[in-house]
Amino acid sequence: MSTNQKNQQGEYLRRTFLKTGCAVVAGLAAPRSFGQAGTETLAVHGGAKAVTFPAARLAALTRWPRYGAAEKERLHALLDNNNFYAELPAFEQEWKAYTQSPFVKAHGNGTSALTSMYFALDLPPGSEVLVPSYTFFATCLSMRFFGLVPVFVDIDPRTACFDLEDAQRKLTPQTKAVVAMHSWGLPCEMDRICDWAKSKGLIALEDAAHAHGASMQGRKIGTWGQMGIFSFQASKVMPTVEGGMGMYQTREYFERAAAFGHYEDPAKFAKGSPVAAYAGTGFGQKYRMHPFAAALGRQQLQGLDTLNALVAKNVRALNDRLIQLPGLAEPRCRADQQRVYYNGNMLMVDFKKVGCTRAALVKALTAEGVRVSFWDYPEQHKLKIYAEAKWWHHPPQIPESMPGNAHVNANHLFLPLFYGEVPELNAQYAAAFEKVWAKREQLAKT
Ligand SMILES: Cc1ncc(COP(=O)(O)O)c(C=O)c1O
Repeated sequence: MSTNQKNQQGEYLRRTFLKTGCAVVAGLAAPRSFGQAGTETLAVHGGAKAVTFPAARLAALTRWPRYGAAEKERLHALLDNNNFYAELPAFEQEWKAYTQSPFVKAHGNGTSALTSMYFALDLPPGSEVLVPSYTFFATCLSMRFFGLVPVFVDIDPRTACFDLEDAQRKLTPQTKAVVAMHSWGLPCEMDRICDWAKSKGLIALEDAAHAHGASMQGRKIGTWGQMGIFSFQASKVMPTVEGGMGMYQTREYFERAAAFGHYEDPAKFAKGSPVAAYAGTGFGQKYRMHPFAAALGRQQLQGLDTLNALVAKNVRALNDRLIQLPGLAEPRCRADQQRVYYNGNMLMVDFKKVGCTRAALVKALTAEGVRVSFWDYPEQHKLKIYAEAKWWHHPPQIPESMPGNAHVNANHLFLPLFYGEVPELNAQYAAAFEKVWAKREQLAKT
């Protein structure tokens, strides 16, 4: 994907998220109880807005990515000292220590990390890979270069993450690997997925592009699979504008993935390495991370846990009230999973239980000053490239339906993430929902 397209993608995502957003006006309001909320006129019907948090403060609190003096200093220092390439091993070391991964490799972006990962598999062409359809194209498409064939797996409507039961149904004698993608920062059930993969002789892989800092049973997401990847693209939980990281549990995978797009690496490997002889060429790609990205990553990593904890605290404060409302739920997160939040606070909505449509709810919440949106994640299996046999070793099976994908796309809302200590903003958002819910029967009639 070109830089231009990437920019368009980033902007498209943001635009889509903002399309139902609305400006908020100055002033603060105290939290209101559900009882009071029932007596108030909805803003959509001419009443006062529930959210009166100052617009400029909200814009500052939700701005993404967030760079400050420390990032600027690092970039200036790099420009002054010309020691560009030292940033790459330094970032790799720090990310490796943070994730406790035996091997990592910095790549130009998540897509090149994925491509290197599929190269490293070294599977015979025609091998099938179980992969979610609810994902970014690169999870599925970059395997194409090595003759691998995606087999689309549904998501669990309660989590928007990998549906293991569906994967079990789609296993064939050609299946060789399985890829879990941790949607919106929620870990897939990696214990169950890895156990099953092991029992079937499959290689477990992870696309952790959404889940920087997430973990399960104390083990960082990205280190459960034999290989995994992160993206540091501008919208991500730990953004370096562009950037990616490969995660490898064995030296063999690491060396092969690194050699694919890093022509200088084979010379660094021990003589006995199967790829040591490819010094000076690697395997034909140049996937090095930009040193500025590495410098940004090193700084962002220092604040990652603190920022993730702050975001999670705000989400808890808000969602603890929202999930009391009929028809509203959070994606299910197990007690042994420590999730992070990418791109927004996703709520699962049972519109039948709520009693009115998504359009009516969004209109009413927006009128109250809530920045609410929804985002239909493109389902890979519906896209042209998968339907054309000429791009594939054998044509991917296009499922007739993916009920999990369809359900999640049609039954969610996203709220913004607040990067600051804002109890009053959380309270105002909760009050806005309570006010709208109290009058939802009126909305059903409109
Ligand atoms: C799930 C997923 N995988 C992979 C990628 C690819 O990352 P990048 O944009 O850094 O190439 C993305 C990026 O949006 C993604 O969301």
